[in-house]
Amino acid sequence: MNILVVYDSAYGNTESIAKAIGSACKADVLRVGEVKAEQLKDLDILLVGSPTQAFQPLPSVKAFLKNLPVGSLTNVKVASFDTRVDVKQVGNRFLTILVRLFGYAAQPIMSALVKKGGVRAVPPMGFIVIEKEGPLKDGEIERAIQWSKEITE
Ligand SMILES: Cc1cc2nc3c(=O)[nH]c(=O)nc-3n(C[C@H](O)[C@H](O)[C@H](O)COP(=O)(O)O)c2cc1C
Repeated sequence: MNILVVYDSAYGNTESIAKAIGSACKADVLRVGEVKAEQLKDLDILLVGSPTQAFQPLPSVKAFLKNLPVGSLTNVKVASFDTRVDVKQVGNRFLTILVRLFGYAAQPIMSALVKKGGVRAVPPMGFIVIEKEGPLKDGEIERAIQWSKEITE
């Protein structure tokens, strides 16, 4: 199976998730800036991940998705993931309301993938970081591996 994981990461946490998924699923893993058009041909599965910043994917990830030709993901199974902080742990009521309104990066990533013809394999998924720069919460790498196996097996 031809599986590709595309990601970007500011502090390395989303990168850790992407690489763990890549090893578990024998997938190629590329940072957004490294992806060449021919690497998107003949894909069976495409996973795209980004940190959530200001409720959205990083601009680099948004640009990558925007530049995918219309129909380029026809018949490709797609999945999206993000990293995010746990609003319950932050305990800020205003932030909780904003998060309810604007959500996390994985949702708009999925919408963009489907818009380009992709077939949603699983709902968008988020993985928790403890602080802005990480580390990931205990067990999130293992959860990411399990999640990716649901898509690829
Ligand atoms: C400028 C900025 C804005 C952020 N905004 C959000 C946000 O809206 N929601 C959220 O859950 N986390 C937010 N975070 C925390 C990031 O999600 C966290 O830094 C990221 O998951 C770490 O992943 P990375 O190491 O791959 O960059 C923000 C972080 C930064 C630096």
